[in-house]
Amino acid sequence: MKKMILDLDTGVDDTLAISYALGSPEVELIGITGTYGNVLLEQGMRNDLAITDLLGHSEVKVYPGLPHAEKADSFSVLPVSEFIHGKNGIGDIEIPDSSRRPESQSAVDFIIDAVKTYGDDLVYVPTGPMTNIAAALRKAPEIKDRIGKIVLMGGALTVCGNVSAWTEANISQDPDAANELFRSGAPVTMVGLDVTLQTLLTYKETKRWRDLGTKASTFLADMTDFYIKAYETTSPHLGGCGLHDPLAVAVAIDPTLVTTLPINMQVDVDGPTRGRTIGDNTRLNDSHKSMQVAVGVDVQRFLDEFMTRISRLAEQAG
Ligand code: RIB
Ligand code: CA
Repeated sequence: MKKMILDLDTGVDDTLAISYALGSPEVELIGITGTYGNVLLEQGMRNDLAITDLLGHSEVKVYPGLPHAEKADSFSVLPVSEFIHGKNGIGDIEIPDSSRRPESQSAVDFIIDAVKTYGDDLVYVPTGPMTNIAAALRKAPEIKDRIGKIVLMGGALTVCGNVSAWTEANISQDPDAANELFRSGAPVTMVGLDVTLQTLLTYKETKRWRDLGTKASTFLADMTDFYIKAYETTSPHLGGCGLHDPLAVAVAIDPTLVTTLPINMQVDVDGPTRGRTIGDNTRLNDSHKSMQVAVGVDVQRFLDEFMTRISRLAEQAG
């Protein structure tokens, strides 16, 4: 069975990503590495522990990542993130704190150890800034040739960004780290706004969770309704909320859900387009393409898998 690490800034859609992973028999979630973004690092890890408890998976360990970008002194949550994910990151829905605590091993060391242990069988899915994986690649560059694959949520190649016309939120938090990853030669699939804004959830689906009537399903319904409501203000043209992070997990499990463009990518780190994800001109003629960018998605098949896997998990969790 493939082993999966989720690197999360937990967040509503990060919570749905955890749910998708735990609802998927093809993978074992061997750990969550914490990052910052939708919430501060500490709040995200608190959420990870509480959510995995609620979903009946207290065996999942949480490892503390870096609290901000290497080139920054600190990190503050943007007001728009609070508006979309709530002050607590999970739609301001209260769930009990876990009695567990994050591990003492750092996220960076856990990632490096996991690559050395599982190699090709390991898939790493970052759905926040790329700060932790960039630090791991700096500390142990050899892991780029040993890791199975990295499937990230972030970036936008064929559509505009969601923070500015050219920048997507996860990349914007730490463009330097994302650029290090993109240019590292590691096998990366980018699942960006090109496809995640095509996979939308509505109140119709969350009602199915509410009707299940379990604690877990009611939490998921209430939390996701908060997120859908925020999208009604921020992106009224979409008619639902973007399933960014769970789509990355789904693609990590079943790459046939998307069509991809093989391309060597970079992130602009200087000048006015800082944070833009774009092809790297200097590697245009390299015959080896280390990255794949998702540009098409089988929307209905993904939504069916999403509802089946998460509903089953939420029912079993009680
Ligand atoms: O741009 C969408 C991404 O930003 C998602 O990962 C969301 O959770 C936020 O981190
Ligand atoms: Ca996220």
